[in-house]
Amino acid sequence: MCGIFGYIGARDPLEICLSGLEQLEYRGYDSTGIAGVGNGEIKFCKKAGKLSNLLQAMNLRNLESAIGHTRWATHGPVNDQNAHPHLDAANSMAIIHNGIIENHHVLRMDLIASGVLFTSDTDTEVIVQLVAKFYAGDLAAALQKALSLVQGIYAIALIHKNHPGQIIAAAKECPLAIGVDPTTKESFISSDPNTFLSSNLDICFLHDGEIAIIQRGHVHVFNTKHEIIRKKTERLELQYTVPSKDGFAHFLLKEIYEQPNTVYKAILGRFQEQTGNVEFESLGFTDEQLSSYKKVCILACGGSAHAGSIGAAYLEELAHIPSQCEIASEARYRSLLLTPDTLVIAISQSGETADTIAALRIAKAAGCKILAICNVKHSTITREADAVIYLKAGAEISVCSTKALTSQIAVLALFALHMARLRGLPVEVAQTFFNNLKQIPDQINQVLLAAPKLQALAEKYAHYEDFFFIGRLYMYTTSLEGALKLKEISYVNANGCPAGELKHGPIALINANFPVVAFCANEQTKDKILSNLAEVKARGAPVLAFAPVGMDGVQAIADDIFWLPPTTDMLAPFTSTVAAQLLAYYIALKRHCNIDQPRNLAKSVTVE
Ligand code: AGP
Repeated sequence: MCGIFGYIGARDPLEICLSGLEQLEYRGYDSTGIAGVGNGEIKFCKKAGKLSNLLQAMNLRNLESAIGHTRWATHGPVNDQNAHPHLDAANSMAIIHNGIIENHHVLRMDLIASGVLFTSDTDTEVIVQLVAKFYAGDLAAALQKALSLVQGIYAIALIHKNHPGQIIAAAKECPLAIGVDPTTKESFISSDPNTFLSSNLDICFLHDGEIAIIQRGHVHVFNTKHEIIRKKTERLELQYTVPSKDGFAHFLLKEIYEQPNTVYKAILGRFQEQTGNVEFESLGFTDEQLSSYKKVCILACGGSAHAGSIGAAYLEELAHIPSQCEIASEARYRSLLLTPDTLVIAISQSGETADTIAALRIAKAAGCKILAICNVKHSTITREADAVIYLKAGAEISVCSTKALTSQIAVLALFALHMARLRGLPVEVAQTFFNNLKQIPDQINQVLLAAPKLQALAEKYAHYEDFFFIGRLYMYTTSLEGALKLKEISYVNANGCPAGELKHGPIALINANFPVVAFCANEQTKDKILSNLAEVKARGAPVLAFAPVGMDGVQAIADDIFWLPPTTDMLAPFTSTVAAQLLAYYIALKRHCNIDQPRNLAKSVTVE
């Protein structure tokens, strides 16, 4: 779950690599490092912690090429030694790696037995030591031999002091893009093509087992038999803009405030008010295909799985098609019994979540067609899916996802409406649903205007260490999302729980130090949630309710209430989620947490 970057060309490789790493920090920020060839030797600098630490320690100059790495620790603690790059014992070559080598222990033991001294705890170091063992002048051949012994997944970049004009790259099940500009004679590699700082590149992606020799302005790719192959290249529309907080204290807060606009953009132009029909630009599935599906299976992780659960409920309620949302990290090891009459939807902000990709591949192998709902263009999921609906939410920088999630729900609402229309939902019902959806951006704005009230509530509740978030139906999924936001950025123990399940065990935890945050917006279960609140109140829990304006009965029970603009049960997740995001933000602020880059996390979870 790391980011790798490399550059060779006329510009300063160090500067370009540092800019690349800045954009790749979303893949991990436990440590960063850079290596390059200069004056016939390997020069490197690496540091535990964020890129800012590396910049302070940076002592490299006059590099002919450079490779850079940003790490999310898998093997070995977060320290300078375990930071990439890793070098062989003779300091003649340096490697950076994204992925996991599963048989690293056995390989390490063999190498140690043959006299190799290791300097880190990482699985990666095994590869560089193996390459050193096999190297006899042909670096690509030595890497290929080393990789034939390795079990696991990887994207790798390797440099050698005897080959100053080359970067060798290899990949298996991890993304690695190569960009070449033959005119300026520049070449780039990256875990993410969106980080290339040039829009004039011929881009290709390394497939499993391929090895590339990258030089200034050209690349040679070899297959597993060491035969040269011709890769198809493409020109990608890459529009990089430097991320800015636009005056907000954190990217998270900025992204929360963007939601009236991002939800609006997710629905804009996708509904024909006259006909009541939904139209996604180049959906890639015909109406006949969509009508023929018997089931829908949604695959996603984390917050995206919460959006997926809401989407599955929309599909069932609007389109009457059996739908389930499966957590991809579980689904990939279960017998889902997928058949081609099931439409599979993969939801991912980044498009790079390893478990979602793995589950998607299993679904494809079972003969299913995949619809991706994604934010990041050119990402692995968008490239592997049969069709894509983009969120159009713009870059989400904060590790904690906010605007992507509400855009996912908006897109899922429209997709469910589309499926429903194909299954005979009357025009007027579709129009009413869309009219309510259209009001959501404005209703989110009303929540944002009440932020000072949420900040005051956060100040009151910030000292508690344990929380239950409860709700029913759509509000249950919302409670899962609210709890995830709080634990992710405030390091508080927050548990989402179906309100009706409390008395089956969790209620045993309740006392005066265990507040319950209740999402009460579902009209259908209004009385039930009030009973659940009375039960926890009777046991001493402080109760904070998020309730629609006009809801009776809640004042008599809750200690505090945040009033939400009323909407339908199906659309209530939008405003309730935004309120929960702000509550989490202000609690994290009060607790002095690292809001945009919480400890132990990465924006994109690219390993299992
Ligand atoms: C949410 O705030 C998270 N940081 C995380 O749960 C995220 O939603 C999950 O890792 C899935 O990511 P994806 O949408 O990029 O696939």
